[in-house]
Amino acid sequence: MNEMFAEQISWESSEAKIVRHAAILSSQLQQLRSRMYPPAAQKKLRSFLTNEVSSLTTIPSSTLKLMSNEGRGPIPDRLDNNHRAYTLPQINELRAYFAEHKPAEALRFLPRRRAGEHLQVLAISNFKGGSAKTTTSVHLAHYLALYGYRVLAIDLDPQASLSAMFGSQPEVDVGVNETVYAALRYDDHRRPVREVIRKTYFDGIDLIPANLEVMEFEHDTPRALAGRVDDSGGIFFERLRVALRDVDEDYDIVLLDTPPSLGFLTLAAIYAATGMIVTVHPAMLDIASMNQFLLMMGDLIGVLNENGADLQQDFFRYLITRHNPNDQPQAQVVAMLRHLFGTDVLTATAIESTAVEAAGLAKRSLYELEAGQVGRDTHRRAREAIDAVNADILNLIQVSWGRV
Ligand SMILES: Nc1ncnc2c1ncn2[C@@H]1O[C@H](COP(=O)(O)OP(=O)(O)O)[C@@H](O)[C@H]1O
Ligand SMILES: [Mg+2]
Repeated sequence: MNEMFAEQISWESSEAKIVRHAAILSSQLQQLRSRMYPPAAQKKLRSFLTNEVSSLTTIPSSTLKLMSNEGRGPIPDRLDNNHRAYTLPQINELRAYFAEHKPAEALRFLPRRRAGEHLQVLAISNFKGGSAKTTTSVHLAHYLALYGYRVLAIDLDPQASLSAMFGSQPEVDVGVNETVYAALRYDDHRRPVREVIRKTYFDGIDLIPANLEVMEFEHDTPRALAGRVDDSGGIFFERLRVALRDVDEDYDIVLLDTPPSLGFLTLAAIYAATGMIVTVHPAMLDIASMNQFLLMMGDLIGVLNENGADLQQDFFRYLITRHNPNDQPQAQVVAMLRHLFGTDVLTATAIESTAVEAAGLAKRSLYELEAGQVGRDTHRRAREAIDAVNADILNLIQVSWGRV
C-alpha cells in the first residue's frame, strides 16, 4: 500500500480536521446559546424595588410608600415578601406625575431635552472588534432610559450583536428592508427611518435592528458615487444625518453601535454624530489598532471636509474598556493614554468583570440582572464602575445641552 494513503487514513488532513472542528464547535456553541438564551425567549424587563426607584427618580422612598398606600400614582405589585415592585413604565408614570405636580422642579423628574437642546447622536466606535462597543452601547442605552431619557439605539453592525441584546434575532425577526439600510439606500425602496424603528421591551428605548443587509450600503455607495445619484438623501456621509432629521423630536439621545470597520457606514455614523466615544481596551495591540483607526479616520474626515462636509461634534472621548487595574501592562497603557490625551480619556473606566460577561451571555446588561444571577459583590462592583462611566457620558451630554 502506498505510504501516503496509509498516512491519510491514520492522519486526518488539515482540511478535514478544520471542517470537523468547526462542526463540533458550532453545535456546542448552539447548545450553549440555547441554554443561556432559549430561542423562543421573550425579553422582559425586571421590576424595581422602592429604593432603586427612589435613586433613579430622586423621589424619596418614604414619599413612594405613602403614595402607594394612599393609592396615588401607579400602584406597584407586591412581591412575596410584601416589597413593592415597580415596572419601568410605572417609574416613568411617576416621573410624569411629579413633573406635572412640581413644575418648578420638572427637569429634575423629567430630564428630557428642552427647546434649544439639540438631539444627541453618539457614535460608539473603534474598528477593533472586542473593544466593548456593543457592551458600552447597551449599558449606556439602559442607563439613559432608566434615568428617564428617550433613546433610539441603531445597530450598524451586520453582526447585529446590539439587536441580539434587545432580543431580536437577525435571521428570524428582521426581514428585508427592515434595517437602517432601508433609510439610507439610493433606490426607490428607500423608506423613512421611522418605518424601521421598533419599540423594545425596555420602556424608553427604540431600536433599529441590523442584519447582514446593512453591508449593502458598502456595495451601493461606490456605484452611487460613480453614477452621481442625486436624490434627497444626500451624499453617502450625509445620509444617516439626513434620515435622522425625521425623528429628531422623538428622542433625546441616539446611540450608534458601529461595525468594527471603517467603511462608508461608519463614516456616515461619524458624520451624523454630535459626540463620539472611542472604546479602547488597554493593551498594546489594541492601541496600535486604534492608532490605525485614528489615522484613517483623520484622512477620511479630511476628505469629507474638502467635499464640503462640516463635522460638528460636541465631544470626542476615549473610554477604557475591559479594564483590569491590577494588570501591570494594562496600567502602563492606561497611564500612557492619560499622559498623551489628558482629559480626552474619560476618568471612569469600564472595569473588566465576570458579571458583565455573564450578563452578556444571557443577553442582559448589568441593569437587568436579578439578585442571585451573579455574586452580589461582583455585581455591585461592576455596576458601580459602569454607572460611573455612564454618568461621565451623561455629563458630557448635559454640558453640550448647556445644563452644566
Ligand atoms: N467590562 C467587561 N468585563 C468583562 N467582559 C466584557 C466587558 N466588556 C465587554 N466584555 C466582553 O467582551 C466581549 C466583546 O465585547 P463587545 O461589546 O461585543 O465588543 P465589540 O462590540 O467592540 O466587538 C463580549 O463577550 C463582552 O461580554
Ligand atoms: Mg459589537
